[in-house]
Amino acid sequence: MQTGPRDGFVLGELPFRDRSLTMVSQAAPLAELLMQHRPGHALQQPFYNASEIFEADLETIFYHDWLYALPACMLEKTGAYQRMKVGVYDVIVIRDGKGEIRAFHNTCRHRGSIICSATLGRVAKLTCPYHQWTYDLDGRLIWARDMAADFDASKHGLKPVHCRVVAGLVYICLAEDAPDFDAFSDTVAPYLGVHDLSNAKVAHQSTIIEKGNWKLVWENNRECYHCAGNHPDLCRTYPEDPTITGVSADGTFPEKVENHFNRLEAAGAPSRFQIDEEGQYRVARMPLLDGAESYTVNGKIAVQKRLGQVPFLDAGTLLLFHYPTTWNHFLTDHSITFRVTPIGPQETEVQTTWLVNKDAVEGVDYDLENLTRVWTHTNDEDRRVVEDNQQGINSPAYEPGPYSATHEDGVLQFVNWYLDRMRSAYAPQSLAAE
Ligand code: FES
Ligand SMILES: [Fe+2]
Repeated sequence: MQTGPRDGFVLGELPFRDRSLTMVSQAAPLAELLMQHRPGHALQQPFYNASEIFEADLETIFYHDWLYALPACMLEKTGAYQRMKVGVYDVIVIRDGKGEIRAFHNTCRHRGSIICSATLGRVAKLTCPYHQWTYDLDGRLIWARDMAADFDASKHGLKPVHCRVVAGLVYICLAEDAPDFDAFSDTVAPYLGVHDLSNAKVAHQSTIIEKGNWKLVWENNRECYHCAGNHPDLCRTYPEDPTITGVSADGTFPEKVENHFNRLEAAGAPSRFQIDEEGQYRVARMPLLDGAESYTVNGKIAVQKRLGQVPFLDAGTLLLFHYPTTWNHFLTDHSITFRVTPIGPQETEVQTTWLVNKDAVEGVDYDLENLTRVWTHTNDEDRRVVEDNQQGINSPAYEPGPYSATHEDGVLQFVNWYLDRMRSAYAPQSLAAE
């Protein structure tokens, strides 16, 4: 399995030519583009629409890093599985007979057929539809008809994919040698503890396609400069204040936010802002607008039978992002996870999952429309701004503009994380020179 630059992709020699866009005809090679980047500015056009850079993003980031898959509660029963596709990979995430969640490549060890074709399902065994080779839920090949006497089934188990569960959230990693995940897990698990995700159920899930590059989806997520002009529902409860969405470049917070951290931490809910050294993940429990409890139109909790034991109704939202695939809002009454999957240079899937207490009853403890309205609207509004952004960037007249130092330090942080990762793979000389 390749985890670094693609074999045969002669970066630094080939000009980029995006077959889908005649306007991107003779852009500079990736290494050059990475080194040309103007600090404090948006990325150049090919980062958002060239198929070669999209492939390089997949190879360098998505085929290397830990990726959010789903909440573990979706695989509650033995044999429950979810299939997910990431670039060229096809993966099955499944709960085995011992209760462990595992992941396998969805490719049969006989002649390679996919084994699971549905997105979600439940099976007793994993049986290939082609010639019925049958695998146990732990991936072992347990039946293959009429093979030679010397056929060794033990050498033909499903190929595993790294899989970890962090406080009820399942992550996978496609790399052969997965990067460290303990630091992330050790950091965020205590924050998630009070949300009790192991006692959650899915109240609703939405999957939308945004016709924009995955980095535009993230850049939009990492600022609220756009919120006042685009998110009337969200702005009833979510503060536009850049200290909430951003990364606090100087490491300090306004007194109001410090007081919020202190109050929650004293009551047993870890809340203080933390960001890892490389900037891949951040966790912080941030206040909502004065008095608001949850993302609802009236600001009150949406679910009476709450998920977790957050000590106060006005505890705000636990914000967690982990590049490149997930941001999350863990609230006093429910939790919302978001999963970002790149589909093409200008197409990204965003899946949103609303989690509630597994004993909460729709129509009794919560009204589904009230629970999902704010983020259904917000997602659609974000889809529109991302698509508009992509269309404008595709113009030959596009020129990367400067970020607002006040409102867009989160975007800058994301772009710098991305550039560091890409430079380490494609322009290591630029890092050595720094
Ligand atoms: S390809 Fe799966 S059994 Fe033949
Ligand atoms: Fe938004």
